[in-house]
Amino acid sequence: MNWTTDGVLTRRIIQVATVAVAAATIQGCGGDSPTAPSSAIAASRAGASLSTRHALVEQVRALAAQRGIVPLPPAPYVRPALARLGHDLAFDKVISGNRDIACMTCHLPEYATGDGRSLPIGAGGRGFGPARTLARGAAIIPRNAPPLFNLYAMPALFLDGRVARDADGSYHTPAGAQLTPAMTRVLEFGAASAQGLFPPLSRAEMRGPVGDNDLTRLPDTADQAIWAAIMRRLGRIPRYRELFERAYPGTPFNRLNFAHATNAIAGFLVSNMTFDRTPWDRFLAGDDNALSTDQLRGAASFLSLKCSICHTGSTFSDNKFHDVALAQFGPGEGVLPNVHDDFGRYNVTGKPSDLYAFRTSPLRNIELTGPYGHAGEFKKLRDFIAHYSNSDVALRTYNPQQIDPLLFGTLIDNTDAVLAARDTLLNGVVIPDSTIDRLTTYMTALTDPRARDLRRLVPDRVPSGLPFDR
Ligand code: HEC
Ligand code: HEC
Repeated sequence: MNWTTDGVLTRRIIQVATVAVAAATIQGCGGDSPTAPSSAIAASRAGASLSTRHALVEQVRALAAQRGIVPLPPAPYVRPALARLGHDLAFDKVISGNRDIACMTCHLPEYATGDGRSLPIGAGGRGFGPARTLARGAAIIPRNAPPLFNLYAMPALFLDGRVARDADGSYHTPAGAQLTPAMTRVLEFGAASAQGLFPPLSRAEMRGPVGDNDLTRLPDTADQAIWAAIMRRLGRIPRYRELFERAYPGTPFNRLNFAHATNAIAGFLVSNMTFDRTPWDRFLAGDDNALSTDQLRGAASFLSLKCSICHTGSTFSDNKFHDVALAQFGPGEGVLPNVHDDFGRYNVTGKPSDLYAFRTSPLRNIELTGPYGHAGEFKKLRDFIAHYSNSDVALRTYNPQQIDPLLFGTLIDNTDAVLAARDTLLNGVVIPDSTIDRLTTYMTALTDPRARDLRRLVPDRVPSGLPFDR
């Protein structure tokens, strides 16, 4: 029986038997037919008449334990007054240069805290969601807007992990020393509390590429001055003074900094976007009936294939960075001028081994959060999963017709470089169609029913009185 991690790691071709219980046993077949049934194991298991649901349940539990898939840690307590403040700040356009874009313009409740687009349109755009259009100097943002779920359990944020907190509590962010100890002391939820400091600094995302105001006038490197200017704006709105002073009792508004604001946004996200009541979570907690038989079969595949080597731990992410051979289009997050490429983790570390590597995506609520991939390469979840089969061929034959027409023509030819850096775990991986179906079905067991409709989180009004996207 060959379910050990080592055994799986060294197998070249992924192959799945079709008999009920052995549904997801990986065979090392030396590399010929990826679809032939694994007669020996199938026969011995079926012979032992284990083709019952109960056996499948036991198998999935054993595999999950073996692969280190564990429950989410409990969410930290959030003071209601802190979440209240963060809720308003997340929807309020007052923190953007031209008061025209909020955090939640790109992380819309209606689109499961993404925006339903491959790539967002930043400050200056008109409308929201898939209907948003370029206007007034607006730019296309180089990466897909990821969902904001279970952030407290994620040590490295952004798709290249550039905002991170180490186990020893130290922060690594693009702000370097401008993120002062007076600010880090305020951060109660780790990287999630620090992350919100960055979108308002970016001209493309929030500060505004054009326009003349207290935020756009400041130089791009003046992080502290920009944060201070936003706090002055907020301080002119009496309702915010009141909300801040309730969220941080005992500290007068004038002694607060912008980290107090982003920490509050994280408090809002943690208290409202912790999704740990999926069928899979109920299964892990001991409910044998939480998953349908098809979902159990899919789980067995996911846990015995290489998927769960990277998608592991409490969030289904190893919090590491890998190149999974995705196409590149849009403006790119290049470190070189006029290069519309995205080098991923390499932008942060400068290590050649990090070229084209992106953080392993967490998978809870994945069914709801398309388009998928760091540039929103795939509209449909099944298509993303299918891409793992012969991913080199899949990349070379990628069909860009599925992306936003705005992005047609921006697909770049970096295929050889991306494949040269592809994670070696994907070498030779071939996945039969029926297994792709099964894996896709398993993903539906990762949906918390409370995440299906988040429109309850849209406020009636925000303290600045500005209109907002809903
Ligand atoms: C213009 C669209 C846009 C706006 C506005 C915006 N975001 Fe994002 N957000 C993104 C994109 C795109 C990424 C991924 C960027 C990357 O990885 O480089 C992201 C990433 C994040 C992440 C990291 C998620 C993860 O999985 O690592 C968090 C948290 C987040 N945003 C919260 C916020 C907050 C809070 C605000 C407001 C202060 C905000 N965003 C404003 C588009 C936006
Ligand atoms: C080598 C590590 C690795 C393996 C093996 C792997 N993944 Fe991934 N997965 C990643 C990384 C890294 C990303 C993000 C890639 C990007 O956006 O550039 C990702 C993204 C995804 C996404 C899209 C998430 C999103 O929000 O856009 C899904 C779905 C997914 N993987 C499922 C699977 C399944 C199913 C398997 C097994 C067939 C699998 N993965 C195997 C590392 C891996």
